[in-house]
Amino acid sequence: MFHSTLKVGNWGEVVIHTLALFGALVAGLALFHALLFLYRHTLRPSSRLVEKYRGDWALVTGASYGVGAGFARECARRGLNLVLIARSAEKLAAVAADCESYGVAVRSITFDLAGASETEWDELFRSLEDLPISFLINNAGVNVEYPTEFVDMDEDTIDRIVQVNVQAVNRMTRRTLPIMIRRKRGCLIFLSSAGGAVVPSPLLSVYGGTKAYVDSFAIALSGEVRRHNITVLSLTPFWITSEMSKIRRSNWMVPSADTFARLALNRLGLELRSNPHWAHELIALGLRATHRLPGQVAYVERLHRRIRERALRKRKQRT
Ligand SMILES: NC(=O)c1ccc[n+]([C@@H]2O[C@H](COP(=O)([O-])OP(=O)(O)OC[C@H]3O[C@@H](n4cnc5c(N)ncnc54)[C@H](OP(=O)(O)O)[C@@H]3O)[C@@H](O)[C@H]2O)c1
Repeated sequence: MFHSTLKVGNWGEVVIHTLALFGALVAGLALFHALLFLYRHTLRPSSRLVEKYRGDWALVTGASYGVGAGFARECARRGLNLVLIARSAEKLAAVAADCESYGVAVRSITFDLAGASETEWDELFRSLEDLPISFLINNAGVNVEYPTEFVDMDEDTIDRIVQVNVQAVNRMTRRTLPIMIRRKRGCLIFLSSAGGAVVPSPLLSVYGGTKAYVDSFAIALSGEVRRHNITVLSLTPFWITSEMSKIRRSNWMVPSADTFARLALNRLGLELRSNPHWAHELIALGLRATHRLPGQVAYVERLHRRIRERALRKRKQRT
C-alpha cells in the first residue's frame, strides 16, 4: 500500500505538494471569478427582456426624482407605458414630460406611500384597473437625513421608514402580482441597498433593516413566481447620485440615476440579485470574501459617525 512504502522523510514533500495544490485551487477559483466578473461587465450581451414588454405598462414608485425618475426615463426609452407614483405633482409632471417625449403613454399619480389609508390604497388600485401592469419597480425609499443612533430616532420617523420601505413594497407587490399571474407575464424590480443587504449599517439601522428585508423578500418571492413566467431582480447598490445620497456629481464609483437604471435593466433576467455597476460589484465581492462581520460593523460605524459629524457641522454653518 502507498502509505506503507512512504518514508518518514517524504512527509515534508507531501505537505508541500498538498499546499501547492490547495494554492493552485484557490488561485484558479480567484481567476475564474475575476474572468466571470470581467465577462459580466464587458462582453456579456445585455438582457433584451424589457424590449419584450414594449407597449405594456410599468409602475414606478418614487418616480418624481432620483433613481425612480432614472428608471422611468429608461423604461420609456425602451417603449414601456408608465404609471408614475410619488407625492410631488410638479416633479412628477416634469418626469412625465421627459417620458412622453419617447412616445409612450404616462399616468402620474400623487400618492403618499406612508400615510395612505386602506380606502386610499383601494382607490389607487381601482384607478389602475384598466391598465394591465406587467412591470413593477418598487423604488420609493426613505432614510434619515443623516446617520443617527436608533435610540435617538423619534418613533414617527422609524414608522415612516418601515411604511415606505417595507409595507408599501408588500402592498404594491401584493396588489399587482395577481394581474401578472393572470397574464402569465411580469417583472418585479426591487431597490434594496448595499447598506443592509451587503454590509451592516450602524447609525442607519432601521434603513438597513428594511433594505435587508426587501432583498430577502425579493429573492424568496422569485421562487414562488417563476412558474408564472415572472422575473425578479433585487438591486443592492452602494451610491447613486440623488437627493438621498446627497451626491450630485457622478464619478467612477457613483453612477447617475439614469446610468444606474440602464445598467440595471440590462441585467433583468440574467441575475436575481445584482450590483450592475462594476465598482459596486467589486466592493460587494471584496466584502463578502472577507467574512469579517465585526470588522465591517466597526468600519461602517466609524464612517457613519464621520458623515454625521460633517452633516451636523454643515447644518450649524447654515443656521
Ligand atoms: N441613492 C443611493 O445612493 C441609493 C443607494 C442604494 C439604494 N438606494 C435605493 O434606491 C431607491 C431610490 O433612492 P433615491 O436615492 O432615488 O431616493 P430619493 O432621491 O430620496 O428619491 C425618493 C423618491 O421616493 C419618493 N417618496 C419618498 N417618500 C414617499 C412617500 N411617502 N410616498 C410616495 N413617494 C415617496 C420621492 O418622491 P416625493 O418626495 O415626491 O414623494 C422620490 O421620488 C430607494 O429605495 C433607496 O433606498 C439608493
